[in-house]
Amino acid sequence: MTLWEAGAGQPLDDPSLLRTDGLIGGRWTAGKVRHDISNPATGEPLAKVANLDEGDVEAAISAAASAFPRWRATSARQRSRLLMEWYHLIRRHEDDLARILTAEQGKPLGESLSEVRYGASYVEWFAEEARRLNGEIVPVEDTATRALVLRQPVGVCAAITPWNFPLAMVTRKVAPALAAGCPVVLKPSEQTPLTALALAELTVRAGIPDGVINVVPAARDRAAEIGAALCASPVIRHLSFTGSTDIGRLLMRQSATTVKRLSLELGGNAPFLVFDDADLDSAVEGAIASKFRNAGQTCVCANRFLVQDGIHDAFVSRLTERAASLRCGNGIERDVQIGPLIDERALRRMETVVTDALSHGAMLETGGQRIGQRHFAPTVLSKASHAMRCAQEEIFGPIAPVFRFRTEEDAILAANASEAGLAAYVFTRDMGRLIRVSEALECGMVGANTGRISNAELPFGGVKQSGLGREGSRHGLDDYVELKSITLGGLE
Ligand code: SIN
Repeated sequence: MTLWEAGAGQPLDDPSLLRTDGLIGGRWTAGKVRHDISNPATGEPLAKVANLDEGDVEAAISAAASAFPRWRATSARQRSRLLMEWYHLIRRHEDDLARILTAEQGKPLGESLSEVRYGASYVEWFAEEARRLNGEIVPVEDTATRALVLRQPVGVCAAITPWNFPLAMVTRKVAPALAAGCPVVLKPSEQTPLTALALAELTVRAGIPDGVINVVPAARDRAAEIGAALCASPVIRHLSFTGSTDIGRLLMRQSATTVKRLSLELGGNAPFLVFDDADLDSAVEGAIASKFRNAGQTCVCANRFLVQDGIHDAFVSRLTERAASLRCGNGIERDVQIGPLIDERALRRMETVVTDALSHGAMLETGGQRIGQRHFAPTVLSKASHAMRCAQEEIFGPIAPVFRFRTEEDAILAANASEAGLAAYVFTRDMGRLIRVSEALECGMVGANTGRISNAELPFGGVKQSGLGREGSRHGLDDYVELKSITLGGLE
């Protein structure tokens, strides 16, 4: 009997979704050792998952390389059909996938279900885009010549995914790779591999050929070894990573020797601008949606609330009231809005951020400490200033520091005073200002009078040190294809 069956996780309608081995060349691979996956809401172990090593990574790369010729030769329509089948299976099993996700990641069940649907939407989108990998015919000077541009798969791809969105980050990387004709070696987060393995089980059921998707779960102590092996491999032609800027820089350095293509979705420090003329209700609801989704553990969530003088006090008081009313608890319980933080390290970081802010003159409006052992209370700090850690660093937790500003110019300067440039938010009823400020913000994505910006149809990614490339949207295939020109001469 597995730990899950013994009561560690909620019963599943289809218990065979709970896979604990890696998947290499279509074979479930146990490896030599296993590691515990725990529920962040209780600290209890959920499952013992294969802790694969560098040798297994090499096997996964070879399996992907062997699958490549057949997969790239599969018609675009057939790849599209297989992806669509995967999409339907994800939707059919969405309740089980949400249960697994909440158990290993902690977010409330309703949020997990939203993530499953959001993640599935990337599979659906790229199933459709697979059929639109059109090339070009380009008119050239010489009338006896024709010039073609082909879009061909880049080759074997690697994906390293984070724990904060264990499902959507997998589909956002794997679906475009498969659509373009590339096989994938996936290394899911050591903290949340069960969702990725359940997704892998569904790719098998969808009929996606052996070796096209390979999953290599491993514990934290092997993460560096596996990352390095993926970067060093000349077979891997593209690496996609979502995670911290520091690890992104390391992967970039390690990929230099093989001149790999990189898609990097790294840290953010999103400014959330509220102007005097904003609709207060919608600004506060946007703030709650952006800041407290996944207990603030998202790259795109508001990190710095920049609020104009005239609306500042009303905004702080309403935000405080709403934040204090959010219910924290185990994500499987009804009505819980804020789940646990992922681990003890994250909780300690929140304490440090609050202590630092208070020592620099911030005022605690609500929260500021742990609730029980695993939750951090939704926190609002006013009188925040740029010397504080919460201004300089990505908080990645449920802390909302509020800064005051006077003019539009001041707000733009403060908003752009960061090496990160992932997302930003602007609230104003003045349409001219909305456009002007949105254009001036140094970031890849703007929420204009909304706190929700994530859609499969839109390009997702950042500028400056927030990363390289765009995921999702009609541009999301670009990183997975090479352009090749063919010049056809002597056609007279
Ligand atoms: C992230 O925080 O890394 C992803 C969030 C999203 O896709 O909305």
